[in-house]
Amino acid sequence: MAEDFIADDLPADKAARYAALLPQIASVTQGEPDAVARMASVASMLAQAFPAFFWTGFYRVDPAKPDELVVGPYQGTLGCLRIAFGRGVCGAAAARREIMIVPDVDAFPGHIACDSRSRSEIVLPVFDGAGGLLAVLDVDSTQLAAFDAVDAEGLAAILRAAFQGLPAAGA
Ligand code: SME
Repeated sequence: MAEDFIADDLPADKAARYAALLPQIASVTQGEPDAVARMASVASMLAQAFPAFFWTGFYRVDPAKPDELVVGPYQGTLGCLRIAFGRGVCGAAAARREIMIVPDVDAFPGHIACDSRSRSEIVLPVFDGAGGLLAVLDVDSTQLAAFDAVDAEGLAAILRAAFQGLPAAGA
């Protein structure tokens, strides 16, 4: 249950921490038909579990503009409201439907600096139960090269657990 979630009880090892978090996030999101409610819960739990995450949140595919992302639930400082597909790291991940790990955002062409303290980031596509692109998850760090394959695998598994049971938009 959400009220029982205590991030301090999670293992220190990063891979183990993702693995321990997964069933808790799956339990909280299970059965909830509203995608934004699921995103808000995932952003909250990830930010609590990983205090080093500087910005943790979702950019949703805008149903009215399917080639544009609009900000969704997040934890952190003020984020940009809209990002076109193909722009910045989030837009690239949405357009390619691929995980992007950027060790140095200043070296990424077209990076959108919502907060100049962000130095590295990971962005993952989020798919609904029908395989449609629902959103991207963006996690930023103030440290260079903060994210690696362990984060990619851990976060991707959590996103599958949190969103694959969600009916397709409009279904
Ligand atoms: N860094 C992102 C923009 C979003 S924010 O950092 C919250 C990007 O270049 O896609």
